[in-house]
Amino acid sequence: MDKFMIVGGRRLFGSVKAECAKNAVLPLFAAAVLTDEPVFLRGAPPIADALCMAQILRELGAEAEFTAEGVAVRSADAHLHTISSALTRELRSSVFMLGALLTRFHRACIAYPGGCDIGLRPIDLHLSALKRLGVSITEREGYIFCECGRLRGAEIQLDFPSVGATENAMLAAVMAEGETRIGGAAKEPEIVDLQNFLNRMGAKVKGAGTDTVRIEGVSRLHGADFRPSGDRIEAGTFLIAAALCGGEAEVTGVRPEKLASLLHKLRENGCKIHTKNDKIRVESSGRLKSNRRIETMPFPGFPTDLQAQATALNCTCEGCSLIVENLFETRFKYVPELQKMGADIVVRGRNAFVRGVPRLHGASVTAGDLRGGAALVLAALGAEGASEVLDLSHIDRGYYNFAGKLKNLGADIRRVRT
Ligand code: EPZ
Repeated sequence: MDKFMIVGGRRLFGSVKAECAKNAVLPLFAAAVLTDEPVFLRGAPPIADALCMAQILRELGAEAEFTAEGVAVRSADAHLHTISSALTRELRSSVFMLGALLTRFHRACIAYPGGCDIGLRPIDLHLSALKRLGVSITEREGYIFCECGRLRGAEIQLDFPSVGATENAMLAAVMAEGETRIGGAAKEPEIVDLQNFLNRMGAKVKGAGTDTVRIEGVSRLHGADFRPSGDRIEAGTFLIAAALCGGEAEVTGVRPEKLASLLHKLRENGCKIHTKNDKIRVESSGRLKSNRRIETMPFPGFPTDLQAQATALNCTCEGCSLIVENLFETRFKYVPELQKMGADIVVRGRNAFVRGVPRLHGASVTAGDLRGGAALVLAALGAEGASEVLDLSHIDRGYYNFAGKLKNLGADIRRVRT
């Protein structure tokens, strides 16, 4: 198992280019199953979650090969439609394979994904959307069995703008008979990526990025070569790192409007933000003012995937802040590790009350989830003295060459094998 060895206190300077977005790439793997022609996901990084999705496709009989330029997928020989519990446990978001498999094979079987370290993460909205499209679903012994004739277009209204449920419904409706309208849809930029990819394949999808997605079913889809957009969460993580450590860093490859809520908060901290096209630069003195309140919300609100990183930033800001996590039930599990570094945080349910201290001190801490792990790294970069961050498997799920990029910005961070 690897760990990061970090010596805090370095200011960060330089530029880093965001990878293609993890949360855009993952549903595109599912969409690749909709055609028997070759598909190329240009720029897709070999992060652990993408490797896992590739493995899922191989288990279905498809081919998925990573190259320096991206991932080549060929689903011509895909013929299976069951996803094992081991893979579903490893990658919850495999659940949106259901929509793609039902479109391709009119049947699908997936182990119930269950909860994870950030919350219960039910899939009721996914299943009710699929039922509206004509899918019959039975749940037995921890598995979900789905089957359908030709999927029929329908009116779907989501009770909550779930990203995964919106994507699943799009994947199931894209070749259904007639029109589908998804109301109450998630508006995340990754939904727009999925729409653009599907339309590149010959689909007729519109409205992604708004709360209503409309789909006119088509009879077939062809191959495509597509570059997903930049990872706004990776970019936001580096911007927060620079704010926390002090210095001047630029992130390229993500348009500022995709991070408007974060940039607003960083300005509130006292950072200077400069934006031009897909470049975002942050200047920070390092000793910032607390954000009085951060509430995570569906896009365009403050992203839950930057909540842990923003909490780490506020640990050493002047003043107090209230962080409210509205999306997931238990997304503060990283807090005890920050407290080992001297953070003054009290968690009550979905609220974290943070009192800024002048400086954290180094400690040995363990990552428990993807974004919480990234937050521990950021805290260590700003802390006094040496830290180690253990169990990098979580961070590797969503950050490619995380240490290398931070080192290029001037951080004292090394990845060592234990
Ligand atoms: C996606 O997860 C992202 N993952 C998550 O990123 C992100 O945190 C989340 O959207 C919210 O933005 C991918 O895109 C692969 P949701 P998803 O369905 O689709 C409830 C990361 O760190 N809900 O929008 O699973 C659910 O419990 C990951 O990159 C239901 O109640 O999120 C949660 O409270 C973590 N029933 C809320 O909706 C359902 O059927 C948001 O979940 C589905 C969801």
